Amino acid sequence: MKGGTPIVSLTAYTTPMAQLMDAHCDFVLVGDSVGMVLHGLPSTLQVTLDMMILHGQAVRRGLDRALMVVDMPFGSYEASPQVAFAAAARLMAETGAGAVKLEGGVHMAETIAFLVERGIPVMAHVGLTPQAIHTLGGYKVQGRGDAAPMLMADAQAVSDAGAFAVVLEKVPTGLATKITEALPIPTIGIGASAHCDGQVLVVDDMLGLFTAFKPKFVKRYADLGSQAEAAVEAYAQEVRTRSFPAEEYGFAD
Ligand code: KIV
Ligand code: NA
Repeated sequence: MKGGTPIVSLTAYTTPMAQLMDAHCDFVLVGDSVGMVLHGLPSTLQVTLDMMILHGQAVRRGLDRALMVVDMPFGSYEASPQVAFAAAARLMAETGAGAVKLEGGVHMAETIAFLVERGIPVMAHVGLTPQAIHTLGGYKVQGRGDAAPMLMADAQAVSDAGAFAVVLEKVPTGLATKITEALPIPTIGIGASAHCDGQVLVVDDMLGLFTAFKPKFVKRYADLGSQAEAAVEAYAQEVRTRSFPAEEYGFAD
């Protein structure tokens, strides 16, 4: 799909969300963002392999045609290619994923090659890599000015290592365009302009279900959080006034 119709992707963590995405998305990402949007964790660093496996299994049951990619969580792959292979093999075998995703550029190239050579398709993720938030110093745009050549090198390295696609997160428009033109593999943007080969968003962000904060790159396509709260409020009010359940919801003797 490189250079063709843009690749469509969203994150999913549950069967029902996966079901409603299956017809519309080329791939569905079981992102480690699950920790923040569904489990109330302060960052993605607390997400475990067991959490990713459980959510991967749930999403897999909701998909018939879209590719499922599962994130490798922090701590499960960085130490060595061998450690990464053991974790990735569990993700693939126990969830039925078609590929894994991991964060990192030049420093992860050896691991990416190790996995791909052993049968595990890898999607890479460069630019803003949330698992490195404490060394990056915040959720900042990456690759501006003097930092551009390093980010280009990261993208080139994961492509050379055999990654089949790469997520570019919070990358300036010009650089994202240059990377997309330079690489033979698709770039999937999140905060990286419409010049990428595809786009991904966190589903709870775009549906307005996760509202603790909103990154600039998120477009809200719906406001389901407010709708859900209004529904809960109406229910509470009706229970307290005994207007719910009305007779139609009951059973004749
Ligand atoms: O965890 C996640 O949701 C992601 C995407 C935002 C790319 O990695
Ligand atoms: Na992620």
